[in-house]
Amino acid sequence: MNTEIKLVKGTHDIFNQEIEHYQFIENKFISLAKKYNYREFRTPILEYSFLFKRNKNDSSDMVQKQMYTFNDLKNRNLTLRPEGTAGIARCIVNNKLFNDYPIRSYYLGPVFRYEKPKYGTYRQFIQFGIENIGLNSIYADIETIILSYKMLKSIGLNNIILKINSLGDDESRNIYVQILKKFFIKNIKKMCKDCQKRFEINPLRILDCKNTKDQKFIKNAPKINDFLNKESKERFEKTKKILKKLNINYKIDEKLVRGLDYYSHVVFEYEYINKMNINIGAICGGGHYDNLINEIGGPKISGVGFSFGIERIFNILKEEKKIFDIKESFDFFIMPINDNNIEYCFILNEKLKKIGYKTDVFLEKKSFKSMFHKIENKNGKYAIIIGDNEIKKKEIILKNIKTKNEKKILIKNLKIELSKVIKIKK
Ligand code: HAM
Repeated sequence: MNTEIKLVKGTHDIFNQEIEHYQFIENKFISLAKKYNYREFRTPILEYSFLFKRNKNDSSDMVQKQMYTFNDLKNRNLTLRPEGTAGIARCIVNNKLFNDYPIRSYYLGPVFRYEKPKYGTYRQFIQFGIENIGLNSIYADIETIILSYKMLKSIGLNNIILKINSLGDDESRNIYVQILKKFFIKNIKKMCKDCQKRFEINPLRILDCKNTKDQKFIKNAPKINDFLNKESKERFEKTKKILKKLNINYKIDEKLVRGLDYYSHVVFEYEYINKMNINIGAICGGGHYDNLINEIGGPKISGVGFSFGIERIFNILKEEKKIFDIKESFDFFIMPINDNNIEYCFILNEKLKKIGYKTDVFLEKKSFKSMFHKIENKNGKYAIIIGDNEIKKKEIILKNIKTKNEKKILIKNLKIELSKVIKIKK
């Protein structure tokens, strides 16, 4: 035997019932996105690395340490997308979709990050996200937050905490960065190597440090809200006021800076603490961005969006026992009595599918006991039994799996007789 080939570390297969649970979550999100006039965008998984590494000074862990980057056979430097937003922005710029603002896009697909795999953290995972691009309006920001909130409610998630913060505009952030530098300079040598780097490139990112030893230095750091200019402050105040009016519960988290460098003004994340009191990380993150489209070669327009990590949401639904039992179910299972009836049964199976039934057929002869066992396991409602005799008489035997009642039906009456036992769902 050849050696079994294993799964790549940090990746996982999704199949059987799980795939239906994933689809349940994704379909709920898609349906709400459509209600808010979002349309699907599908952008490539493979992009030029420069799309994500736009700035030499990008300080996010994602760009610095987590990208799957390689040279292809023609020495092009490519990256498996680590997130969806930059690809959407590139698509909008490349296709000059600037005539009709706002551009509302939603997307669903795999993204790749070289992170330490653990519960809820994978190296390939699925993001569902939306981007609303073109308007620099607090109403677009608020609508985006409301939509993410409604999406989580739509799948029955109530135990989640929405955290929001404002990173202000460029001017406010530049001032704040200088203030942070002054604050951290006395202790920066005692902090982790990453923070020392962050201090040089983007001190704001120090607030996002997960190193427990550094927390004592971070705890009393100045808060960005105290340094927002008038316009940024007013914007954030108004955002909070309207969210309150709309009964969207949130918590202000002044240390929330988000893991990516492109944000300004409002940023938000959803957190979930599980029953064992373990924080599995954010299940959704997003915010407003002013410079991204411009950095990619487009006009100076703003955008706002968020992405959910579908695996994390699935894990929570499973933990909270909100995962319902989705069972396979068949209308008719066709059973050949002998090997030489298989071809006839195979063709009949195609005909019944064409009428609109969900059917299956046994393509190798098995004992009646094992065939009935399988039908029961797969929630088949009726068996259609066919042997030499039935073929000769141009009829079938219809057996109700539950009641065990049997009935003979002539092939010429099949359509009408079957419709009496199972109505076709349109
Ligand atoms: P992000 O916070 O980096 O934001 O990722 C969004 C979500 O992806 C996270 O909240 C989390 O649920 C999930 N996630 C992140 N890393 C992992 C992982 N290793 N394994 C499993 N799930 C993970 C973005 O990606 C931005 N593009 C969001 C955005 C859209 N901002 C504006 N528009």
